[in-house]
Amino acid sequence: MADIQSTNAAAPAIIHRQDYSPPDWFVPEISLDFTLDPASTQVRATLSVTRNGAHERPLILDGDGLSPMEVQVDGRLLQGGEWMMKGDALVIPLPGDAHQIETLVELAPENNSKLMGLYASGGLLCTQCEAEGFRRITFFPDRPDILSRYSVCMEADQTRYPILLSNGDPVEQGSLPNGRHWARWNDPFPKPCYLFALVAGDLSCKADSFVTMSGRTVRLGIWVKEGDLPRTDHAMQALKNSMAWDERVYGREYDLDVFNIVAVADFNFGAMENKGLNIFNSRYILADPETATDIDYDGVEAVVAHEYFHNWSGNRVTCRDWFQLSLKEGFTVFRDQNFSADMGSHAVKRIEDVRVLRAAQFQEDSGPLAHPVRPESYIEISNFYTATIYNKGAELIRMIALMLGPDRFRAGSDLYFDRHDGQAATCEDFVKAMEEGGGIDLRQFRRWYEQAGTPHVRATLRHDPAAQTVELLLEQSIPPTPGQPDKQPMAIPLRTALFDRAVGRHRGETLLMLTQAQQSFTFSGFADAPILSINRGFSAPVIVEADRSQTELAFLSAHDDDPFARYEAMQQLMVNVLVGRVAGQNIDEGAVVAAIRDTATDPKLDPAFIAEAIRLPSEAYLGDQMAQVDPDAIHAARDALQQRIGQQLEPLWRDIHANMKANGFSLSPAAKGARKLRNIALLYLVASGTDDGPTMAFSQFDEADNMTERQSALATLANNISNEREAALDIFYNRYRSDALTLDKWFQTQAFASHPDTVDLVEELARHPDFTLSNPNRVRSLFGAFAGNQWAFHHKSGKGYRMVADCIIALDKINPQTAARLAPPLGRWRRFDEGRAVLMRAELQRILAEPGLSKDVAEQVGKSLN
Ligand code: ARG
Ligand code: ZN
Repeated sequence: MADIQSTNAAAPAIIHRQDYSPPDWFVPEISLDFTLDPASTQVRATLSVTRNGAHERPLILDGDGLSPMEVQVDGRLLQGGEWMMKGDALVIPLPGDAHQIETLVELAPENNSKLMGLYASGGLLCTQCEAEGFRRITFFPDRPDILSRYSVCMEADQTRYPILLSNGDPVEQGSLPNGRHWARWNDPFPKPCYLFALVAGDLSCKADSFVTMSGRTVRLGIWVKEGDLPRTDHAMQALKNSMAWDERVYGREYDLDVFNIVAVADFNFGAMENKGLNIFNSRYILADPETATDIDYDGVEAVVAHEYFHNWSGNRVTCRDWFQLSLKEGFTVFRDQNFSADMGSHAVKRIEDVRVLRAAQFQEDSGPLAHPVRPESYIEISNFYTATIYNKGAELIRMIALMLGPDRFRAGSDLYFDRHDGQAATCEDFVKAMEEGGGIDLRQFRRWYEQAGTPHVRATLRHDPAAQTVELLLEQSIPPTPGQPDKQPMAIPLRTALFDRAVGRHRGETLLMLTQAQQSFTFSGFADAPILSINRGFSAPVIVEADRSQTELAFLSAHDDDPFARYEAMQQLMVNVLVGRVAGQNIDEGAVVAAIRDTATDPKLDPAFIAEAIRLPSEAYLGDQMAQVDPDAIHAARDALQQRIGQQLEPLWRDIHANMKANGFSLSPAAKGARKLRNIALLYLVASGTDDGPTMAFSQFDEADNMTERQSALATLANNISNEREAALDIFYNRYRSDALTLDKWFQTQAFASHPDTVDLVEELARHPDFTLSNPNRVRSLFGAFAGNQWAFHHKSGKGYRMVADCIIALDKINPQTAARLAPPLGRWRRFDEGRAVLMRAELQRILAEPGLSKDVAEQVGKSLN
């Protein structure tokens, strides 16, 4: 019972959206003086504060682990009783309406393993402040609706830290005695403190420039370790493309004279949009053909764009409070998705984005951590940087854009940016701007922000041959989610078409608005029953249940002119066979094999699209289609089908594998598509069990002039027991052991492998000398990948659960944010059989019983037990 008490004693405060109130004090200006040193950094902060309205409340400055060495008001040093600590916060009663506050604190960046605030990474000193890291650097009202002008002075050892960067523009620098030097930066744009950044280190610059639409020249710099300079070209190109795209598509121009990006090796997530000084996880900057896959290249392009786009959607217009997080994240993801689509293929990008949404967000929406796009409460805001806020948030903007069309959507976004420039805004402000600027009523649509859970839409088509009409009956329902037992109907835009079987075409697409629980739509002039193509382009983030026969799905997989719908029909064909088999029915696989053959040999199709369409749905996605997930049966059924597709179409796979081999490396969409298709051909070939499969995979591994083909061959080999498997893994390790980002792939490939011994292998890898809990990328590449490997993680011994729980417990003491991100897979116990559910709950309880658990992990694990 001691456990329960300690949990209660630590019961952390719940923050509610409804409790928002404007700040008591504003901070229009702040000047920061850093005396930098990894063991002991001094931070002197001077804040000009002004009282907001008539009240008597003291100034409260947030802190996290800080103790003030000095507090001054208007140049006078305060005595002990004139300020007090309330928990971690510094409280200063102030007599007037405007004062100057000065505080001095000392930090030890080298001991900061949470990677929030000011920390050391590979010889650099850098910062991460979003969401609440600034309070680990200095005392400050750490909330996004306080916008301040920053002036930052950094002093450091000249040899260890020759480069000193902060937000805005460099204004002055100089040298000092004792081998030290200093630099001052000013940021003219008022910003919330979560956008503050500084970097000090021995960095080299990939420099370039961009001329904006009004003719200003912006100096661009990507700062990396000298040896990494050759790997920055793609990121720089992506940055320039993003800047041009935001001007062309949104009319948004960059606003400072410099834009810097720094790559760091230890980073809790992808990257951070600090004003004028983006800080990146190096995996989203560094890329060359030898070490980066096409997926990595696309990731670099997308994240560079994402952070750049935040300059308007996030920085110029920021969030009033953290409940509005999707205001900047959902919108910015939508923007980066469209940018990437414009740079490559719209069809393939949409398929990829929907795959991510279903894998991450649909799972979240159907589990204990489900929350609305605009949440009502949180304990630790870091836990809300979720697929719901980001990816579902982006889908909401996409639906608005669809309903408005491009011109009215642009009018809405123009109004939003113009009206709220320089402000901290809300999701409601965005919706209002879209309503007014776009001319649309979004009253019911707002429920998308309020209600959690993925809507289900049942679609039934009834043909009346006598009247020559078809009636489409649509019924929506939204499952209960934590705190929301009953739901109201949503406004769901469904792009729909009805196909004539005889001619293989439809007569024009319509956008149906489903707004009621049940609604029917009638179409006339159909002598024969048509085939339904619905939610084309995945126009709404919903689960559609339509009774379509395998014949009808096969028809759509051959004829649908919407590439997403065509892909979807193909996947549904496969799902029906596989889910049927798991349930013990023997559904004929002939239609699947034929559809794969026809798609793979259709000369009109883009190879990248073919590769997406002919891939079997993941084991996790198949699990999501079942009332209860049976990981072993799903694996067996999928593996067997993959083998038979491999066998029955073996000559085709050999052809594709030979024909898609390129002469020389290129990043053109055509070359990327060819690699994608070639890799899947190899996968089917090896799956077929043909004798020369492993040697073909090994030669591809060995001869590849790019990481896409090398890693894919390795992943294919990793699924099977063979000598080639061990040889390739050894070669890969020895070739890349000194390159952390590439070594991550070695861990990740093994942790994600469909191999019967994966649990044991991962246990061994966790003891490997190159494994470390101190680098988030390494942790994610082993345990993140493993927890996403349904068959291995849900090993019925429960060993997988135990290993992940052990990792969470150990990591929580070092880096709670990254630890908490490993918890959600354990929280999905309701979806599994009693045996597994008991084991998963036991691990959650074991974690919760740990003394001194962080609020990050306590919130995720506590909620997961409900
Ligand atoms: N704003 C950053 C982005 O571009 C991510 C910050 C994540 N912060 C966190 N505490 N998880 O998406
Ligand atoms: Zn973002």
